[in-house]
Amino acid sequence: KKITLTVIKADVGGCVGHSSVHPELLEKAKEMLSGSPLLIDSYVTHVGDDINLIMTHEAGRNNGEVHQLAWDVFVACTDVAKKLKLYGAGQDLLADAFSGNIKGLGPGIAEMEFEERESEPVIIFMADKTEPGAWNLPLYKMFADPFNTIGLVIDPKMHKGFDFDVRDTVENKKIIFSTPEEIYDMLVFIGAPGRFCVKRVFQRETGDIAAVSSTQRLNLMAGRYVGKDDPVCIVRCQSGFPAVGEALEPFTYPHLVAGWMRGSHNGPLMPVALKDAHPTRFDGPPRVIALGFQLSEGKLIGPQDLFDDPAFDRARELANNVADYMRRMGPFEPHRLPLDEMEYTTMPQVSKRLKERFISLRK
Ligand code: 13P
Ligand code: 13P
Ligand code: MG
Ligand code: MG
Ligand code: MG
Ligand code: MG
Repeated sequence: KKITLTVIKADVGGCVGHSSVHPELLEKAKEMLSGSPLLIDSYVTHVGDDINLIMTHEAGRNNGEVHQLAWDVFVACTDVAKKLKLYGAGQDLLADAFSGNIKGLGPGIAEMEFEERESEPVIIFMADKTEPGAWNLPLYKMFADPFNTIGLVIDPKMHKGFDFDVRDTVENKKIIFSTPEEIYDMLVFIGAPGRFCVKRVFQRETGDIAAVSSTQRLNLMAGRYVGKDDPVCIVRCQSGFPAVGEALEPFTYPHLVAGWMRGSHNGPLMPVALKDAHPTRFDGPPRVIALGFQLSEGKLIGPQDLFDDPAFDRARELANNVADYMRRMGPFEPHRLPLDEMEYTTMPQVSKRLKERFISLRK
């Protein structure tokens, strides 16, 4: 019997500004999911202003009814957000109506279908104020770096390595890299997370799905600035996959990601407990939460709030130091994102207005 684990997220209105989600929206979402006969189980949470719907069912990936359910939840939550005049009500719903599959309509989605193992620990990572490429570095460490994951060396089921399905979000192409053999080739691409994103990871020994992330890019779909695509990522753990602690270890280093204020700045990704998942300093710094569940016949047993551990205090402290350091650059790169990432902000308008004042110089 195969179980599908589907995580769909959207920002349909922030409270206050872009910092958090109003409890009434979460209540609405919980009520709608728990009443649905489509699902085995569900869990609703949020990171910053993004609502995350964690769902289990037997309908497989890309199931129209499950996607429609999530869409309907976000539409209903948008109504609540409008009633409360929350900030950016309906922000991530780019289409006027649902049309068969939620992909391309605005919400982010990560889903995987698998045979539930005798014990099935999974981690759902959810981030705010950043973009899907933010997972590239941690996924690389989890699945391809033996200095992070000792299992690659000593677990016979991991020793063959993992395949990475990498997406080019600009040209809409995909390529599979086999690690460890092809890590140098792969790093050429995934080291550019604004364009290339790790979509899926597979265990080579069995071909089993190990991780999946959300990779859509709203701003490319909308053709105007609509914020960054605060991403989610599902990772299966233990016996042939990274141990829970190996999957969490990359986040002890708060690497720089694109997002933060107005989706236009680089900043450190800070791992936090749920109680701290409401970014406010300069609308950030970017946050990541990690909820662990044990699946039991599709039931979500848990969650365990995995970054709620003093062992991550130093990562948070380092993130704050890096935030101080980066902030002092104000509107200068590389704190501010490079020009091609500013395309959907005031850049085109200002350039247009000043066009006549730019004087061509002789070579
Ligand atoms: P325990 O002995 O606590 O079960 O730990 C086993 C383990 O493999 C930890 O990584
Ligand atoms: P969100 O993508 O989280 O809505 O952030 C947008 C923004 O502009 C924050 O300053
Ligand atoms: Mg927002
Ligand atoms: Mg957000
Ligand atoms: Mg967003
Ligand atoms: Mg034990």
